[in-house]
Amino acid sequence: MLQEKSKTEDIAPSWESYVVSQDWESFTDDDHAVWDLLFARQVELLGSRVVTPFLDGIDLLRLSHPGVPELGELNAILEPRTGWRTVAVPGLVPDDVFFAMLTERVFPVGNFIRTREQLDYLEAPDCFHDLFGHIPMLANHDFAEMARHVGELGVAAIAAGEGDRVARIYWHSVEFGLAKEDGELKILGACLASSFGESHFSLESDAVERLPFSVSRAVHTPYRHDAFQPRYLVSESLEATVEAVTATSPEELLAL
Ligand SMILES: [Fe+2]
Repeated sequence: MLQEKSKTEDIAPSWESYVVSQDWESFTDDDHAVWDLLFARQVELLGSRVVTPFLDGIDLLRLSHPGVPELGELNAILEPRTGWRTVAVPGLVPDDVFFAMLTERVFPVGNFIRTREQLDYLEAPDCFHDLFGHIPMLANHDFAEMARHVGELGVAAIAAGEGDRVARIYWHSVEFGLAKEDGELKILGACLASSFGESHFSLESDAVERLPFSVSRAVHTPYRHDAFQPRYLVSESLEATVEAVTATSPEELLAL
């Protein structure tokens, strides 16, 4: 997840300075129980409504193992597979830091989990969103390469003062994308996959627009931070999204 860069930051510190210890031992029994509750509830809710590589990733990474995942154990499976690894951060990181992390196949994961009282409302993405929502797809080679490429686009776009362009690509694919699979509409994005309320809404609501995904449309389609999305971009397939995004050079992005 990313946030707006502070206007007062002229020179971004290196992304490493945002990394903290996951401090896995400090998660309480109740934290682990909240993970188990969220995991079981979301897997049941999603059923087959999510693209197949997401479900494959859950299995590959053994995310069904009880309790909050320990990042070292997760990385021991993920890194040899696609070169990606997770690091712990205390909360949202600025856009430029986030995209710099992606270029190095590093994904930031909140070092906290929501409370039982906040199951469906989050002020900032916690480790359930980050780990359940994002990491399964980073075990997929093609998607993982697309995510790294988005990092390259992000660094270049921010340097050109056009960070919104790549934030919108990210939002409409990695966070809120939908994709067809064998003709059926499925969830692709992490915000949808990890959301109790919006996962079904995105697929089933008659009150939203669903428009064909293209990089150009994503670049020019605004999004909401504070409510369910009024429109979703639908890719012909996961592969089509990966192909279109990874084929876009920074120069092309800025010219769209
Ligand atoms: Fe996210």
